[in-house]
Amino acid sequence: MRVDVVTIFPDYLAALDLSLVGKARRSGLLDLRVHDLRDWTTDRHRTVDDTPFGGGAGMVMRPDVWGRALDDLLPAAPDGGHADREPAHVEPAHLVVPTPSGEVFTQRHAEALATESHVVVACGRYEGIDARVAEHARAAGHRVSELSIGDYVLNGGEVAALVMIEAFGRLLPGVVGNPHSLVEESHGSAGLLEYPVYTKPPLWEGHEVPEVLLSGHHARIERWRRDQALARTAARRPDMVAELDVDGLDKADLAVLAELGWRVDDGRLRPVAE
Ligand SMILES: C[S@@+](CC[C@H](N)C(=O)[O-])C[C@H]1O[C@@H](n2cnc3c(N)ncnc32)[C@H](O)[C@@H]1O
Repeated sequence: MRVDVVTIFPDYLAALDLSLVGKARRSGLLDLRVHDLRDWTTDRHRTVDDTPFGGGAGMVMRPDVWGRALDDLLPAAPDGGHADREPAHVEPAHLVVPTPSGEVFTQRHAEALATESHVVVACGRYEGIDARVAEHARAAGHRVSELSIGDYVLNGGEVAALVMIEAFGRLLPGVVGNPHSLVEESHGSAGLLEYPVYTKPPLWEGHEVPEVLLSGHHARIERWRRDQALARTAARRPDMVAELDVDGLDKADLAVLAELGWRVDDGRLRPVAE
């Protein structure tokens, strides 16, 4: 998979040389290139921003500079935005624009991005990127996702780019050593948070590991973990319980949820009224 990141602070992305993503880069699983937006400026001050039309505080990133960068990095869209034209034989790319006003980035976005062959991430600064840049890329036939990593405002898109690249990069085949470790994680297909995890020593500072985990009884361990995942999700993320697919729950799941104050009503889980 190829990933291009465009930023005015390329050094910010140095963390992508570390850990599993760094290893994936070195092994060639991830062809990750970081670019300085200022390389596409044409003036001697290497200007990337200007004052906002309509007035107001702060500066806005110029569309012409971003346009030149994206023209170089996004291959021509298959139909150039014109479905009637003969398609060119190019691999389409997906433009990701981190922004606090975007759709909230979730594991589902990470899974979808992990299937792409080419992702370009455009990191904004100041008050953000002139809105015509995303509009222009869409009109040219590119897939564009404006994504937020949460309901707060950062100074720039670099941290968001790190978050998203780590989230989708670890889903690429071969990046995480044991692919089974991705199966039961929080926010996976079960729609639950992960159960609590423990390691040695079995007794630490007076705290014992739950006895069932030392029993070697696989069925009991599996059931205990499932119950813990349900209980933790109900306590911390009731919104996720309300979204669970009832058909994917067994009798024991429903009994645990009933104890936690949830029951099935009209095909959906609902909290039992106080
Ligand atoms: C100071 S912010 C701009 C905020 C913008 N004026 C607004 O209120 O929506 C500058 C840049 O940081 C990045 N950014 C800030 N918060 C973000 C978030 N929650 N998720 C993703 N990117 C974010 C975006 O790239 C944005 O263009």
